[in-house]
Amino acid sequence: TEFGKRYPRTSVVYASKAFFNRALGLILKEEEMGLDVVSGGEVAVAQSVAFPFAKVYFHGNNKTEDEMKLALDASIGHFVVDNFHELAVLNRLAKGQGIIQNILLRLTPGVDPHTHSHTTTGVLDVKFGFPMIKGIAEKAVAEAMSCSHLKLVGLHCHLGSPIFEMEPYEKAIDIMMRFAAEMKERHAFEMQEFSVGGGYAVQYLVDVPAPSVAQYAEAITVRLQARCREMVLPLPRLVLEPGRAIVAQAGVALYKVGAVKNIPGVRRYVCVDGGMSDNIRPALYGAKYEALIANNVGQGDSERVTVAGKLCESGDILIKDIMLPPVSAGDLMAVPVSGAYCIPMSSNYNLALKPAIVLVKEGRARLIRRRETHQDLMRCDLIRARAVECGQ
Ligand code: LLP
Repeated sequence: TEFGKRYPRTSVVYASKAFFNRALGLILKEEEMGLDVVSGGEVAVAQSVAFPFAKVYFHGNNKTEDEMKLALDASIGHFVVDNFHELAVLNRLAKGQGIIQNILLRLTPGVDPHTHSHTTTGVLDVKFGFPMIKGIAEKAVAEAMSCSHLKLVGLHCHLGSPIFEMEPYEKAIDIMMRFAAEMKERHAFEMQEFSVGGGYAVQYLVDVPAPSVAQYAEAITVRLQARCREMVLPLPRLVLEPGRAIVAQAGVALYKVGAVKNIPGVRRYVCVDGGMSDNIRPALYGAKYEALIANNVGQGDSERVTVAGKLCESGDILIKDIMLPPVSAGDLMAVPVSGAYCIPMSSNYNLALKPAIVLVKEGRARLIRRRETHQDLMRCDLIRARAVECGQ
C-alpha cells in the first residue's frame, strides 16, 4: 500500500525463491499477490495450490524447454526473457501451442547496488539479462517485437539483494526509462509494464536498521513519474518483486544447544543441532544474525560466544561473537529473521535432516512441513538394500 497510494498501478509479485511451499502459496493466493518463479519446481508447487497463473512471472537465465512448456501449459502470465536463445525457443513453443505469450525483457542497466558480490545482478558482467551496451538490448527489443508469437509488454531489471540505498533504484530507473524512450522512438515500442525487481532490505541486526517500505516507495515512484514525464512516456504498470522483505522477518529458526566448548582465552563455542545445512548465508555471504535463548530471554547477556553448527566444516559458524546469557546443553536457541533464503537454500549435506516448519498465526501453531526422516534421505536411491536382503 505504500507503493499503491503513491502509484496506483503497482503489482506486487512475490519472489518465491526466498521461501515457497504450498502453505505460503495459499496465503499469497488469498492476498491476491503475484508470483515470480524461476524453476519448474516452483511452477509445480504453484500449480498444486491452483495459483492463478495469469499473475505468475517466469524468471531465470537458463529455463529449460521442459520448464518453458510446463509454464506455457499452465497459461503463465509473463515470461521474463533473459537472452536470445530463450527468445527463439519460447517463440517456437508458443507458436506450437498457437498462443501469443506476453513477455518482458530482462536488462542489466550496469548499476552497482553495493551488495555482496554473490548477490549483485544488475552490473554489466553478470550471467543475467541483456547487457545495455553495444546495441544488444536494442537488438533484443527489435527481435522480440518481430517474434510472431511473443508480445513484448515491458522491461525488467533486478539490481541485487539486499539493497540498503535508494540511489541504485533511482539510477536504474533513469537508465531504463531513457532506453524505453529510445525504443519508442526507434521501434515504436510501447512499455506497458516496468519491473524494477526486488532487493528490498530488512533489519537482521539490532543496530543495522533497513530503509522502510515507504522510503523505497517514495524514491522509486517519484523517480519513475519524473522520468516518464520528462521523456513523454505513458506511466507503465510498476511491478515489484520483493522476496526477502515479505518473508524474512516472519521466520524464526529454532535450534537445540548441545555441546558447549570453551577454548580458554580464545573462544567459547556453543554448538547447535543445525547449521549450514539449514542456513548457508553466514558461510556464503558473511551474513550476520542475532540470537536469543528462547527458554531464558529475561536474563541479561553475560558471555561472548560463537554459535557453531553441527556440520563437518570448520566454516559452519552461524554467528561469530555474540553476547548471550549463560548457555548450556538443552537450551533452545532462537535465530530471528530466518524466513528468507534459509530453508530454500538448505541441503542434506552430511545427510542432515531438513527441519520441520511450523506456521504460527494469531498464537495458533500448525505444522506445515514435517521434519525429514532417514527414509526420506534414501527415497530416490534405486539400489535397494541388497546387502541386507542377501544377509537374510
Ligand atoms: N527478482 C529477481 C529477478 C531476483 O533475482 C530476486 C532475487 C528477487 C526478485 C528477490 O530479491 P529480494 O527481494 O528477496 O531481495 N540468496 C541471497 C539472495 C539472492 C537473491 C536472488 N534473486 C541471500 O540469501 O541473500
